Amino acid sequence: MHTPLLHYLDHRIALYVGDLTDHAVDAIVNAANSSLYGGGGVDGAIHRRGGPAILDACRAIRSSLWPDGLPVGQVAITVGGELPARHVIHTVGPIWGRHGGAEARLLADCYRNAIELAASLGLKSIAFPAISTGVYGYPPAEAAVVVSRTLAAVMREQPGITQLRLVFFDARQFDIFVAHQQFSD
Ligand code: APR
Repeated sequence: MHTPLLHYLDHRIALYVGDLTDHAVDAIVNAANSSLYGGGGVDGAIHRRGGPAILDACRAIRSSLWPDGLPVGQVAITVGGELPARHVIHTVGPIWGRHGGAEARLLADCYRNAIELAASLGLKSIAFPAISTGVYGYPPAEAAVVVSRTLAAVMREQPGITQLRLVFFDARQFDIFVAHQQFSD
């Protein structure tokens, strides 16, 4: 089982280094693209390990709720397929420099909307990758400030979420986050 490397917010937030797809929580959050049809990075890992049931559910979402694609900052939930997690909450992070200065707000929307959706469905545990800090080029140090401030606010509004995990793919990204987080401010 994974051992958290650090905790914040009286242990409701825990930080890990590893593969998000290993985490057996109520929902893991996918750093998807608007098509919802998969991609590389964590999106690719989730679809590879979760299997076709996830893509089938994404197709159903595209043909009903979001025919033109999932907008940046928005969220959509599917089954977890073969994953240890029960559900996948797909979100589309901002591409650094492509949203006219709205990147921080859009990144915060991804985290806030995912937590609020999970809470509205009575889910208790949720795990995030470092959304937008890969292919989408969001500087990890800047993301750490936005994410920690957003989580500190939203987790106080959502007591039903008893466990929130941030899963970093390597120790370097974990270290950058810890060095720049502002949970306690
Ligand atoms: N577990 C945890 N974190 C992971 C994993 C994994 N299995 N794989 C990658 N990561 C990390 C990356 O190291 C990065 O820190 O997730 C973070 C987000 O990187 P990306 O997956 O590239 O996501 P993002 O930057 O939001 O770009 C999204 O990439 O894969 C495509 O379809 C996706 O077009 C979309 C874009």
